[in-house]
Amino acid sequence: MAVGNETTPAATTTGNGKGDETLVSVQNLKTYFPILGGIFRRTVGYVQAVDDVSFDIKKGETFGLVGESGCGKTTTGRTILRLNKATGGKVVFDGKEVFNLSPNELKRTRKDMQIIFQDPYSSLNPRMPVGDIIGEGLRVHGMTDRKEREKTVQYFMSVVGLRKEWVRRYPHEFSGGQRQRIGVARALALRPKFIVCDEPVSALDVSVQSQVINLLEDLQKEFGLTYLFIAHDLSVVEYISDRVGVMYLGKLAELAPAEELYRNPLHPYTKALLSAIPNPDPTVRKQRIVLQGDVPSPINPPSGCRFRTRCPIAIDRCASEVPAFRLMGNGHYVACHRAEESTALMGVTGGALAAAPAATPNGSASGAPA
Ligand SMILES: Nc1ncnc2c1ncn2[C@@H]1O[C@H](COP(=O)(O)OP(=O)(O)O)[C@@H](O)[C@H]1O
Ligand code: SF4
Ligand SMILES: [Mg+2]
Repeated sequence: MAVGNETTPAATTTGNGKGDETLVSVQNLKTYFPILGGIFRRTVGYVQAVDDVSFDIKKGETFGLVGESGCGKTTTGRTILRLNKATGGKVVFDGKEVFNLSPNELKRTRKDMQIIFQDPYSSLNPRMPVGDIIGEGLRVHGMTDRKEREKTVQYFMSVVGLRKEWVRRYPHEFSGGQRQRIGVARALALRPKFIVCDEPVSALDVSVQSQVINLLEDLQKEFGLTYLFIAHDLSVVEYISDRVGVMYLGKLAELAPAEELYRNPLHPYTKALLSAIPNPDPTVRKQRIVLQGDVPSPINPPSGCRFRTRCPIAIDRCASEVPAFRLMGNGHYVACHRAEESTALMGVTGGALAAAPAATPNGSASGAPA
């Protein structure tokens, strides 16, 4: 069966050269974790890990999802794959509603949706040889012949750059980068259409990060894969993503084609994240905007805009009204009441405000109403 690269007559191309056909549609997704308390272990509150998040991923695309630790990226990825239970909303994968699948349908669909975990050290069973780790999914999905399984495993080992003679070795005999390749081979062996790459290089040495990213890019082309690529840092997703969504405290703050997002960020949070990336050109002086305070708790998030407690241009309205996720043109969405004026107030990366607060037309660093 062809994997992930079917074209339909209706498929057109977008500016990024990828098909326009949607593979994954995430609609108003909510995942709340109950907090149990008291001697009766009653629910006393909820961690609002993902709260009303919507986006589509096109076939063949890499959709980057970024935001600080704890903002709900992993939970979003896991809920799409039904590894966490959704509280609300729906996910349509390849025309099927994931949350309505029967156990049998779910098992079949799972083959098409895989995950690569953040930590290659804890995600591989230390007591299993890598051949069994990579081949386990094949066995579960019906490849019962040992010889056939071993051949398939060895093929995928060579595809990810591991020597097939290593099939009987154990995870501790490999380096971090090699272990992540084992994780990639395990996901790939089932010939999925879609892979959630959950910070696949965050735990690796900088020197091997780009090797693993290059491998993922090559595999995407070769096997027609679609990725949800999660990272906590915009500089990693810039290189690999077609479109990028920025999350803050369980919600999407901004979503745009990658190039558009980096050139014209509109949400103050995105501007702050971008200002933290060092500019390789030493002649360009970039002001870094340092966000005040910590990310608030997702158990009791701020009213209105969740970013308002750290936003340098917040106004009264931000406390009372949740900003809508609005289309600003060019496939660029943003959830901010002041998106039209944010660049005038803050500059592209927050530099103007940080450098010269007095020069802003209506606001101030403390956020006077416009
Ligand atoms: N199984 C769980 N039970 C309770 N809370 C959880 C669970 N998984 C994640 N959380 C909480 O949900 C929020 C989002 O977590 P996560 O999705 O892991 O964020 P990220 O991947 O962006 O770092 C965090 O506050 C985290 O503590
Ligand atoms: S200006 Fe208001 S709505 Fe926009 S990010 Fe800041 S607090 Fe949120
Ligand atoms: Mg995570």
